[in-house]
Amino acid sequence: MRTRGAVITKSPGEYEVIDLELDEPRQGELMVKMAASGLCHSDDHLATGDMPAALYPFCGGHEGSGVVEKVGPGTPGFEVGDHVIFSFLPGCGRCRWCASGMQNLCDLGATLLSGARPDDPTSYRMHTVDGQPVGQMCGISTFAEHTVVNIASAVKIEKDLPLDKVCLLGCGVGTGWGSAVNSAQVRPGDTVIIMGIGGIGINAVQGAAHAGASNVIAVDPVAMKREKAMQLGATHAFADIAEADAFAKSVTNGQGADSCIVTIGVVKGEHVGQAFSAIRKAGTVVVTGLGNMAEVGLPVSLAELTLFQKRIQGSLFGASSPSSDILRQAQMYRDGKINLDDLVTSTYSLDDIAQGYRDMHAGKNIRGVILFD
Ligand SMILES: NC(=O)c1ccc[n+]([C@@H]2O[C@H](COP(=O)([O-])OP(=O)(O)OC[C@H]3O[C@@H](n4cnc5c(N)ncnc54)[C@H](O)[C@@H]3O)[C@@H](O)[C@H]2O)c1
Ligand SMILES: [Zn+2]
Ligand SMILES: [Zn+2]
Repeated sequence: MRTRGAVITKSPGEYEVIDLELDEPRQGELMVKMAASGLCHSDDHLATGDMPAALYPFCGGHEGSGVVEKVGPGTPGFEVGDHVIFSFLPGCGRCRWCASGMQNLCDLGATLLSGARPDDPTSYRMHTVDGQPVGQMCGISTFAEHTVVNIASAVKIEKDLPLDKVCLLGCGVGTGWGSAVNSAQVRPGDTVIIMGIGGIGINAVQGAAHAGASNVIAVDPVAMKREKAMQLGATHAFADIAEADAFAKSVTNGQGADSCIVTIGVVKGEHVGQAFSAIRKAGTVVVTGLGNMAEVGLPVSLAELTLFQKRIQGSLFGASSPSSDILRQAQMYRDGKINLDDLVTSTYSLDDIAQGYRDMHAGKNIRGVILFD
């Protein structure tokens, strides 16, 4: 069928909306009419080339929700009209990682930037109108009016949940919240620094507050971000890490923060080095933000690493398992324990997507969200 989606045709580049041909769903696939899609920074890494796609055009978007319009033949578990949130990480349910409660590390993740069907790597579900293959971001492409996905990427939810808010559970919320609760293992009374208050960092603030941290210290150069952090659970907010580091030491008898979570939009090694200096002995730096994928090397003190037993912990989707944690977080939203409503600071039409990303770069949004008709 014919649909429309936002693609990048080269990197560096900008998203532009084009007509697309979309396959009918095969066995194990769903066709979904999109309701809403968050504008996560990771799709901007595709546009800048920090995160290279395997082919162009590439249709972006990996944080979305919608309504099932068609179910592939012989595909039990879903029916037309079901409401789904996409997981940006597919979960096969069978690999070593899925079977050990680490579904975020599912082996299907190897295909996130390939754009092709995970079970048929030379086959694409989207094409341009003249027949060129179009890659799908994370196998889902939520920047399209309709998409076709593998059921490994879809989590069925109750129909009364607002799709324009719960779309954020597909990436930003689980990633940020889990970065604090799972990866930093924040405990009651802790002092936690969160560097970078966008759609991910604000949820690390919520997670750290929820886990009972005494000092939740938000760092962002943008005043609006610091205000938002204070509304959503931060106890202190600073414009740069040096001030946050000094404050954390002042409230811990000079020892430093228990953990520092790096959720900056474009992470560089120096940011991890700053976080590393700010944590106490046996403390943890959680690196959730992404930067240029070709970059290697971290400016950290080898002496502090060994003698102070400091830990640097990477975090993918906040070490959450999408099939269970998205549903838990939907329940916490119902219970008022996770705030989604105040995270959406602007909404856009699909045609305004490039403006949405310009606003993200200008620091105007916690999360911009595309609403489909
Ligand atoms: N690991 C994962 O599973 C995962 C999932 C989603 C997103 N990400 C990555 O997380 C990062 C954050 O994504 P986002 O959507 O929240 O981005 P965003 O652009 O909305 O937010 C980033 C924030 O960092 C701030 N910032 C920039 N430089 C800073 C500095 N030196 N110190 C403190 N703050 C600074 C910006 O002002 C902005 O508020 C991106 O790199 C994204 O690709 C990772
Ligand atoms: Zn994301
Ligand atoms: Zn798996």
